[in-house]
Amino acid sequence: MELRIDPWGSTVIREYEKLFQYFGIKPFREVLHLIDKPHMYMTRGIIFGHRDFDKFWKLYRSGRRVAVLTGFMPSGRFHIGHKMVVEQLVYYQRLGIDVYMLIADAEAYAVRRIPRSEVIRIGVEEYIANAIALGLDSEKTVFYFQTNQRPEYYRLIQLFSRKVTFNELEAIYGSIEPAKIMAALTQVADVTFLTHPSMGGYEAVLVPVGADQDPHLRLARDLVERFSSEIELKQPSSTYHRFMTGLDGGKMSSSRPESAIFLTDDIEEAKKKVFRALTGGRATAEEQRRLGGEPEKCVVFELFAYHLVKDDKELKRIYDECRSGLRLCGQCKREAAKLLEEFLREHQEKLAQAREEARRIAKEIKPSF
Ligand code: TRP
Ligand code: SF4
Repeated sequence: MELRIDPWGSTVIREYEKLFQYFGIKPFREVLHLIDKPHMYMTRGIIFGHRDFDKFWKLYRSGRRVAVLTGFMPSGRFHIGHKMVVEQLVYYQRLGIDVYMLIADAEAYAVRRIPRSEVIRIGVEEYIANAIALGLDSEKTVFYFQTNQRPEYYRLIQLFSRKVTFNELEAIYGSIEPAKIMAALTQVADVTFLTHPSMGGYEAVLVPVGADQDPHLRLARDLVERFSSEIELKQPSSTYHRFMTGLDGGKMSSSRPESAIFLTDDIEEAKKKVFRALTGGRATAEEQRRLGGEPEKCVVFELFAYHLVKDDKELKRIYDECRSGLRLCGQCKREAAKLLEEFLREHQEKLAQAREEARRIAKEIKPSF
């Protein structure tokens, strides 16, 4: 339960409470009891919120046709933040649920202004390849590019434009421009098209994303509602996870290499990033022994909780040792670096083969220009 690591768990809830109040996202812990074998992100409060997860889950449990779909903007190298999303896909796929992973190349091109050839290369070599190396089954997963979909998908985008006003988009997104409007309506198509009778006919689709993606999901839910008498679509269900803090204390981002660990990082370089990471340690060892550290403010502790320590008891031990002053940051970072090294070594061994697989898939799904 998230109560096992209570202070950390409640930090999550305090920080994200506004999303519950203002947008009607529901706390994930309220649906946790429905799940037999929850993912550690669920029990640790890392997946903190949802919309209609319970609806989705009940349909899944009663054997109905459901799917999980999420997308990645191919704007840079694949890092441990992206790994969190793929892990959720792998979890649902192993439960027997159909999984769709899309590359948001239209969005990356239009909004981030990255050249076409780049977004396609990054989509295949970074995102699809790393997802396969992380355990996503390349035979079972449906991969697609936003610019290489079937005609019906684009028809949805055209039709959607009819029932949304500029004021409404501004209210949701703030300043908005044509590229962003295109990207938003495209994402609405992504999260709804599978429920159309002629395009998949799923009874429910679950979209696991970071909380920053909720505006698109709100728009999707509204549009489905407005089209209810014309087009048969279902509102998407969604879950929201919190982001790991960047290693330097800022936002984790591909554009600042020192803030993130990339899954293709040179291992020595990755370990150095851990040693340089911001901790919740005190100014001196003496002070730390006396006062204890602050794991809830510590990026190294987040690395354990989000990635490196699967066993809850072990994580609790690290937490307690830190709080009580038994654990000092130097040794603690060495432990984290060692676990990270083991993970990266194993992952990078799988990556060569996964790249081959990704290129094979790309031959079929890659846009031609
Ligand atoms: N906008 C998402 C991002 O910035 C990518 C994305 C596009 C997406 N379509 C999606 C995510 C559908 C989830 C579902 O990463
Ligand atoms: Fe973070 Fe470990 Fe230092 Fe505690 S001992 S503050 S968990 S690095």
